[in-house]
Amino acid sequence: MQTKVMDASSPEAIELAARLFAEGQLVGFPTETVYGLGANALDREAVLSIFAAKGRPADNPLIVHIWHRDQLEGLCEMPEGAEKLMDAFWPGPLTMLFPRTERIPDEVTAGLPTVAIRMPSLPCTQRLLKTSGLPIAAPSANRSGRPSPTTAAHVAEDMDGRIPLILDGGPCQVGLESTVLDLTHGTPTILRPGGITKEMIESALGTQVALAGSILRPLKPDEKALSPGMRYRHYAPRGTVTLIEGEEEKVLEALRKSCMGDRDAGRKSCVLCFTEHLQTLSDCDPHDLGSRGNDAEVAHRLFDILRRVDEEGMETIYSEVVPAEGVGLAVMNRLGRAAAFRTVRV
Ligand code: TXA
Ligand code: MG
Repeated sequence: MQTKVMDASSPEAIELAARLFAEGQLVGFPTETVYGLGANALDREAVLSIFAAKGRPADNPLIVHIWHRDQLEGLCEMPEGAEKLMDAFWPGPLTMLFPRTERIPDEVTAGLPTVAIRMPSLPCTQRLLKTSGLPIAAPSANRSGRPSPTTAAHVAEDMDGRIPLILDGGPCQVGLESTVLDLTHGTPTILRPGGITKEMIESALGTQVALAGSILRPLKPDEKALSPGMRYRHYAPRGTVTLIEGEEEKVLEALRKSCMGDRDAGRKSCVLCFTEHLQTLSDCDPHDLGSRGNDAEVAHRLFDILRRVDEEGMETIYSEVVPAEGVGLAVMNRLGRAAAFRTVRV
């Protein structure tokens, strides 16, 4: 199959994408978080082809994307607190779980009684969803196990020849996937941290919000994943990532020593560090995470860097960390999983 790449701001591209959705085909499209691989959420066969194109396990459910709240009618029920959070954060990078109706095929939710829904804020995504008129099921547009795509070129790397169309909307503003929040099991619980933080949700709800246990550590062998996606190896480059945390000077020393030691042993090695440390680590092939303290910038860059170290054939990668608070929690969740939570404290 020939994969066409078209500018997401062109009306012809939006028309074509909407037509492809109506025909049950797949389209790669931008959102403010990461690129999605979309299909008509009400078309079982189309949804199945998402799993095939990604190589995604069938028990990992998809997020349904809408542009207008009226589209919720008939698809789901409204859990307590949902309206307040929609008022505060939609459109935007917040996905919520809703008790679902029979209209949502089992293939979308992997048989779960809830469906994850979000309203993206990127204007061209809204135009696409509005033109199509359909609820669009879309996971991130990467091959399963690869970092989520944050540019159309990333989508092409993973999906070229597998889908008919990719809409290019430029680099994604947030760069990490949406926050996934469960309001259907008592205490509101963040299953996946993202751009809408725990603090922001607590302030909008006026109640405490819990974090799923496995956000900053691996699942225990007998532990049930609240969100099936948490079970899978994710965001991982082929090389071995190790996180180094501690006092600044010691971290810099450990980054250099680890990288140089590996090189002496004949391994291709590099470091991921803050802009402020590029010069100090200039002999360690430093990859720029963004400015220290600017977690939004780190979020924006992270997935591109993880793809790049793969392209460069890095065998070992040593990285600085950010505090696991606010957007930093989302960064550390993705970085932690890329490193299989391998952390050295110095
Ligand atoms: O920002 C995003 O959310 C992007 C863009 C394209 O919208 N989408 C995305 O989808 O990241 P995906 O499929 O890569 O991640 C969806 C996550 C998975 O961890 C999945 O297990 C979880 O949401 N999920 C979906 N439906 C669920 C449900 N009913 N219950 C629990 N977790 C669910
Ligand atoms: Mg994904």
